[in-house]
Amino acid sequence: MAFEVNDSAGKLGGFAKEGQALAVCASGLSFAYPGGLEVLKELSFGVLAGSRVLLAGATGSGKSTLLRCLKPELAPHGKRSGEVLVDGLSVKEFNPQLSAGRIGFVMQDPHQQIVMDTVKAELAFGLENLGTPPEIIQRRIAEIANYFGIHSWVDRSTSDLSGGEKQLLNLAAVIAMQPRTLLLDEPTVGLDPIASREFLELVQRVNDELGITVILVEHQQEDVLTRMNQVLYLDKGQLAFDGTPREFALWLHESAHANKGALPVASRFYLGQPRESAVDASEIPLDVREGRWWLWQRVTGDGESDSVPRTRGKECLVSLQQGGVLHSQGSYACDIGWYYPWHCRCECLG
Ligand SMILES: Nc1ncnc2c1ncn2[C@@H]1O[C@H](COP(=O)(O)OP(=O)(O)OP(=O)(O)O)[C@@H](O)[C@H]1O
Ligand SMILES: [Mg+2]
Repeated sequence: MAFEVNDSAGKLGGFAKEGQALAVCASGLSFAYPGGLEVLKELSFGVLAGSRVLLAGATGSGKSTLLRCLKPELAPHGKRSGEVLVDGLSVKEFNPQLSAGRIGFVMQDPHQQIVMDTVKAELAFGLENLGTPPEIIQRRIAEIANYFGIHSWVDRSTSDLSGGEKQLLNLAAVIAMQPRTLLLDEPTVGLDPIASREFLELVQRVNDELGITVILVEHQQEDVLTRMNQVLYLDKGQLAFDGTPREFALWLHESAHANKGALPVASRFYLGQPRESAVDASEIPLDVREGRWWLWQRVTGDGESDSVPRTRGKECLVSLQQGGVLHSQGSYACDIGWYYPWHCRCECLG
């Protein structure tokens, strides 16, 4: 199996070019827990090195099982067939040390992953297990604490940390080992919205700046979809979708999928509009910024102006009502273009 983009690697979100390196390449991967039915069925897909991938699917569809199959020391026991390459190597060939260094894993429960009493000891733990010399460990801790902005609390006790701080520490401890691929299994569950957003921003930053491939399992797609290059969707252990986030939004919409309610509000609003022609996937907004821009173009009709349509309040109101939007405060000021879109209640949201 080639360690490059080719047909067997799947669609790769439609953004891959021939010859690009793959961080993960699965071919016909199936898995069954002992005495159970298959929970992963003939999965074939590829993940480009340096990309950000959302692994989505309903509860029990096999997301955690698949993620664990990518990291040998966490791989579940059971009957497995097919092949998985991570970083060009069959996962069967990874020894624990290589796996620990190359593939990072952040679990759902931040408390479960922390094993040491202090932040500094936790940051050192994985590196010590890799046999890293003490002077390099000290340097790496200083670098990573600085990078994650946690240098002021490296001497704190881990038991005093909040859930968000613990998850940040887990991420920092994993990144300290300089992995090439980072697997995250619902890492923001239990975090408040601010901590959750900060965590996702950090994940994006390590991808952007360090080039680490990210595969993220996350049910909540509001802040997530726009950050991704590719979506893999599991349905009862089968790969039901592999493509870009915008194609994914369109797929959920067109198949009237039960999960379409999890799409970002901007996508749902756009897809809920009455229209005469087919939806162009490349136009689907994935976040508030894109949604505002799309509405702005629709209201002003030009898409280039950045001035407020001060004389067009009534006109805006008509087109917005025709588009199914009602303002929560019942009035449209002249400055409508600046504030209306996402503070409105949208009739069309399902
Ligand atoms: N250790 C296990 N032994 C037997 N069956 C298991 C085990 N772990 C998971 N399963 C079963 O395998 C299937 C897939 O589970 P998995 O945890 O991978 O799904 P998931 O998509 O991560 O679900 P969730 O969204 O709830 O986390 C489910 O039917 C589950 O009951
Ligand atoms: Mg799971």
